[in-house]
Amino acid sequence: MLIRKSSDIRPSEITSEANYINRRDFIRAGAIAGSSLIAPGAIGAVIPDGRLASLPNVTKSPLSTDEAPNSFEDISTYNNFYEFGLGKGDPFVQAENFKPRPWTIEVSGEAEKTGSFDFDDFMKPFDLEERIYRMRCVEAWSMVIPWVGISLADVVKHFQPTSKAQYVAFETLNDREQMPGLRGRSLDWPYREGLTIAEATNPLAILAVGIYGNAIPNQNGAPIRLVVPWKYGFKGIKSIVKIKFMSRRPKNSWNMAIPTEYGFYANVNPEVSHPRWSQARERRIGGSLFASKQDTLMFNGYGEQVAHLYKNLDLRRNF
Ligand code: MTE
Repeated sequence: MLIRKSSDIRPSEITSEANYINRRDFIRAGAIAGSSLIAPGAIGAVIPDGRLASLPNVTKSPLSTDEAPNSFEDISTYNNFYEFGLGKGDPFVQAENFKPRPWTIEVSGEAEKTGSFDFDDFMKPFDLEERIYRMRCVEAWSMVIPWVGISLADVVKHFQPTSKAQYVAFETLNDREQMPGLRGRSLDWPYREGLTIAEATNPLAILAVGIYGNAIPNQNGAPIRLVVPWKYGFKGIKSIVKIKFMSRRPKNSWNMAIPTEYGFYANVNPEVSHPRWSQARERRIGGSLFASKQDTLMFNGYGEQVAHLYKNLDLRRNF
């Protein structure tokens, strides 16, 4: 994975989205700011003037951290989304015209219920929750993000995996027209990821559709992306179009690209260094450039909820 120079990092104040509307949207928001943007019950994307729609009926989760979230600006302008370029600021610019609607999610494989679902139909059975989670990137930076999402365990149960299903695989949209990064060979497209069924049904795992109470920005993986907060950020596959229940372990993009550096599990582990850098500490985005790094916690601090999943696994070999 590319590592950016410290000069690429933009320190910014921690502000809530209430105080801050992303610059692009701010210009367009104009007089309609504060108006109700979507019909109750629907999960909106972007209303015609470009503002992100507010999400209805979101409950707060006891699984949230009480750490201060990063600003909406940090979260939506410092991104990894190689389909829209390799630089941290590229997705903010290059995903501006990406269309997260209409959107179809194909569910296939070892499950009783399969098929192609329009995004709104896919979402209907599930409740929206705010989950404020730490995110630790394998590149040794971190953020705190107030996601809005649905429980992945609920999604898995809904599709009724058969006894053969041991894993869930995910794929990102593969559209060269809309995603300029696909013309480059940085990864073998489409971006792919996977979890064991036990990981996918852990209460912490979610599919996120929003940030700060509004629909998720394109650059963060609209309209729906995976969030597994005890794993390195690259497991959090964006803009998902395929979900497949599998009996065998699926491939995952970064493991295919550099198997000596990126594994399948990718659990946050300060004791296992990346071959090119230590994972013991991390830089929290949004803080002062001169602030010292903070210690990285085992399983990103979520050990109580997930350590049991790995009790028979050698975490050095299964990195
Ligand atoms: N998903 C896709 N499809 N393409 C990507 O390049 N980057 C991953 C992950 N999901 C990536 C992706 C990496 S390396 C990280 S750290 C997180 O997205 C970053 O999520 P964020 O930009 O919302 O912070």
